[in-house]
Amino acid sequence: MPMNFETVEVTTDLLIIGGGMGACGAAVEASYWGKKHGVKVTLVDKASMPRSGAVGMGLSAINLYVGLAEGKNTVEDYIKYVKYDLMGVARDDLVANIARHVDSSVHLFEQWGLPLWKDDDGNYVHEGRWQLMISGESYKVIVAEAAKNALGDENIYERVFITEPLIIDGKCVGAVGFSVRENKYYVFKAKAVMCAMGGTVGVFKPKSTGEGCGRSWYPPFSTGSSAYFTMKAGAEMTCQEVRFVPIRFKDAYGPVGAWFLLFKSRATNAAGENYMQTRKDELLNWGKYGAAIPQPANLRNHLGLLEIKEGKGPLMMRTEEAIANLAKQYEGDEKAFKKKMKTLENEAWEDFLDMTISQALLWAATNVEPEVRPSEINATEPYFISSHSGASGAWVSGPEDLSAGTDYFWGYAQMTTVPGLFAAGDATGACAHKFSSGTHAEGRIAGKSAVKYILDHNTQTEIPEEMVAKMKEVIFQPLALFEEHKNFSTDENVNPNYIIPKQYMFRLQKIMDEYVGGVSSNFSTNKASLDRAAELLVFLKEDGEKLAARDLYELLRVWENKHRFWQAEAHLRAVAFREETRWPGYYFRTDYPTLQEEDWLCFVNMKWDPIKDEWSVFKRPVLNLFNID
Ligand code: FAD
Ligand code: ADX
Repeated sequence: MPMNFETVEVTTDLLIIGGGMGACGAAVEASYWGKKHGVKVTLVDKASMPRSGAVGMGLSAINLYVGLAEGKNTVEDYIKYVKYDLMGVARDDLVANIARHVDSSVHLFEQWGLPLWKDDDGNYVHEGRWQLMISGESYKVIVAEAAKNALGDENIYERVFITEPLIIDGKCVGAVGFSVRENKYYVFKAKAVMCAMGGTVGVFKPKSTGEGCGRSWYPPFSTGSSAYFTMKAGAEMTCQEVRFVPIRFKDAYGPVGAWFLLFKSRATNAAGENYMQTRKDELLNWGKYGAAIPQPANLRNHLGLLEIKEGKGPLMMRTEEAIANLAKQYEGDEKAFKKKMKTLENEAWEDFLDMTISQALLWAATNVEPEVRPSEINATEPYFISSHSGASGAWVSGPEDLSAGTDYFWGYAQMTTVPGLFAAGDATGACAHKFSSGTHAEGRIAGKSAVKYILDHNTQTEIPEEMVAKMKEVIFQPLALFEEHKNFSTDENVNPNYIIPKQYMFRLQKIMDEYVGGVSSNFSTNKASLDRAAELLVFLKEDGEKLAARDLYELLRVWENKHRFWQAEAHLRAVAFREETRWPGYYFRTDYPTLQEEDWLCFVNMKWDPIKDEWSVFKRPVLNLFNID
């Protein structure tokens, strides 16, 4: 591997990092407002925008549409839904801001060519109260095209992996990274930076090992860059303990939402009992949240996991029963019945073909006919995805009209506690259930707000040459380390002078799985286990300095793992700090097994101090800005 890397400097006004839903939203909005004021907007993505990020494979539903103009729901309805689903811990202002803007993002998607399902009267087909059905295999291609048109190709850098923020005097003034295809080191200098690099997968050991190794629900390329970037910048973070454990069709991770909501299916234990019914008394143990409709996602998981613990699994999605129920009214009219069955069969397969093709392949490979027999579902490994049903991310300012005068507001909507650093989507915390559409809307809010910040602070900060030169050395050091020591042993995978990224990742996953409540510890943990994990993570972090890379591809893996590590550490610290169990079904503190509203109905926030290299973890109150009860 040649060691000469050209340094490419790019100077811009707004740097958007990431090319997913949040970044595409920001690109469209910031370009619009920027053009009026001569503000230059640049975007950098580690992959190729039409297929990058969690929507790259397509989706079968838009999970957030409030329907304000149709009078379907109010902003308050949505805040209530989100707050109860997160067991009381959510930011009213951020959720409200997304809820009041999200419908316009959905209308833009339709205008740009996304096929939304319509009924005979031309109305959107709802999957559930908040969700719309789409034919969404090309969802991301459509959204990325609009973003690219807004930005102009000359302002887009693809296949460039961002490793570090550039911080001068506590302000974020750019970022550095490297091309994953060419020998190039990139230095982006900016007046404001918007972070939208998605969430984190691969912190916990996946259920799929051996030949299925790497298969996960969350796309494997979301490796904690948002968390790392914001933490390394010194931003205050929130809800780092709030992971997400989805229930999914077993092994290929197919989505369940359409089955539960559109097809009105039941999930049962192996004996055919509906555990949401037979175990409903357990819900009484979880305060007012247990009585919410729908029941919070973690409590639904919790009841299913209790079945498994008692040996009553496997859990089954009763697809055959759901299809039979939906077709029942056509019985007696053979032609109409056959037509309905064909439609239902098409819809069932399209749900997977639009977004999780491997589940359709697994069904085909194992002769599953959903109208004939049920399919197994189970809990996956934990992920960090605050745009879905998790909540971990940066603590950002709310909008002035909703949160001025409170602890939730400090000047520019979506700005982190680091001046000049904005965030959206999986990069922001405490505003779950925004999904693809809400993230796009949040990105638009952040993009507009960042342009305002730039107009108010219109100076380019000088970045010392030595600083970027030192960063270059650190970024490429794993390649040099490998070159230096590769001949020491006969197998280059095994060498006392370095560790390869895969081994490092396996070690991280084993620690988190066994001690921090992964699959093999039944999502349970306690102080002793967390202390042990903390001790082992110190050794792992030390060894992280010796990560080696044979080529650019492995260098990418090195940095992905370094980023992932920070998400793991932040999670461990937050789980250890919160001495209660608030999200059973996501994780269980066996030493504090109950909900403690008085002491712990609060945010757990934290901050890494870049100067002292020290963490602080602390509580912040949950404010009630809207009357939702
Ligand atoms: P992403 O869209 O994931 O984008 C992250 C971007 O950052 C990517 O472009 C990536 O390449 C880039 N990036 C990452 N690291 C770096 C780096 N170091 N340097 C540069 N770039 C980097 N929502 C729905 O509405 N309906 C659904 O049916 C639905 N189903 C889902 C199914 C799955 C399996 C998953 C994982 C999510 C689903 N969602 C769904 C949620 C939706 O995908 C997310 O809410 C949304 O993608 C979040 O947007 P984001 O911009 O935060 O991240
Ligand atoms: S997806 O994003 O990967 O497609 P999933 O299939 O779980 O997610 O859910 C899609 C939507 O349905 C989300 O808004 C989720 O919160 C909701 N959902 C899933 N299962 C249920 C359920 N049993 N009750 C209520 N809402 C549900």
